[in-house]
Amino acid sequence: MVTTLARVYKSLDSADFRILLVLDSLLGKFEFVPLEVIERKCNLSPKELLRKLDKLHKLKVIKRATAPRISYKLTYLGLDCIALHLLVKKDVIAFLGNKAGMGKESEIYLAKTPSGRLVAVKFYKIGRISFQRVKRVRSYVVDESNWLIRSKIAAEREYNALKELMKYTPYVPGVWGWSKHSVVIDYIEGIELYKYRDAFDPLGILAKILSVIREAYLKLGIVHGDLSEYNIIVRVGDVEIPFIIDWPQYVYKEDLQSMFYLKRDVEYIIKFFKRRYRTTLDPEVALRYVTGRINELSLEGSSRS
Ligand SMILES: Nc1ncnc2c1ncn2[C@@H]1O[C@H](COP(=O)(O)OP(=O)(O)OP(=O)(O)O)[C@@H](O)[C@H]1O
Ligand SMILES: [Mg+2]
Repeated sequence: MVTTLARVYKSLDSADFRILLVLDSLLGKFEFVPLEVIERKCNLSPKELLRKLDKLHKLKVIKRATAPRISYKLTYLGLDCIALHLLVKKDVIAFLGNKAGMGKESEIYLAKTPSGRLVAVKFYKIGRISFQRVKRVRSYVVDESNWLIRSKIAAEREYNALKELMKYTPYVPGVWGWSKHSVVIDYIEGIELYKYRDAFDPLGILAKILSVIREAYLKLGIVHGDLSEYNIIVRVGDVEIPFIIDWPQYVYKEDLQSMFYLKRDVEYIIKFFKRRYRTTLDPEVALRYVTGRINELSLEGSSRS
């Protein structure tokens, strides 16, 4: 099955991309970019430009406003196409596959790198849900361009965090590139921790998770900030290997709130394991471990099963 994104992406030519890139470059400046500005920047004849804009509008990669003047803006689908175009051009990916996941603020697609590595492309879609909600109850138009910009920032943050983290721990997906609001990471064939019911080594999984939190804190000076059973994927083989995903909201150690988030992350995940597997690791000890006050986590006697 060909996804809408792949279908739309394939139907775009270089002139279409030129127009989309102009709209993208003006994201922070206009909510809707006036036609005459696009005309000036695109170097296409007025007739050709109108024909192209019509095509892009029908494909839903741009939106049109007619009052007070004819103007256009990018949609998320348009930004997806630009990001793909650049990822392909930079040889980060060579092939886009099916949709593989859906977060509250993102869409995840399978893809392959030029060397055949299976990866996930995560397209941030910040504001998508709140936008739909606002649209239902209000008649006025909300400025979506801010959300596109925020999605770009999230992708860049996730890329930067994973690029550093992958040097220090094997328990995060490797990251291979980013563009606009998208980031390309290893596809983890596994099961989300919240769905995984019968772990054979729950303490082993918990210890690996805490080791990531420790490396992030001690080596990078960051705190995940949204650690939960929903942001961990477990690959199950001879051993169970957790991967911690979803890093864009990380906070720096120097942040006044960082200790609050670190404690919350640690306590939350320990509670989850206690609830599901009746483990008894003391959150205080775990906190000492992740902040480097002790160097080893003794798990003896922490399992009741
Ligand atoms: N690298 C990956 N490999 C395999 N599946 C993934 C990967 N990254 C994300 N997923 C899938 O996509 C889902 C959403 O991913 P993620 O948590 O990164 O997005 P999100 O929009 O920030 O999520 P939310 O806001 O709902 O927590 C995950 O729960 C998982 O099922
Ligand atoms: Mg998530």
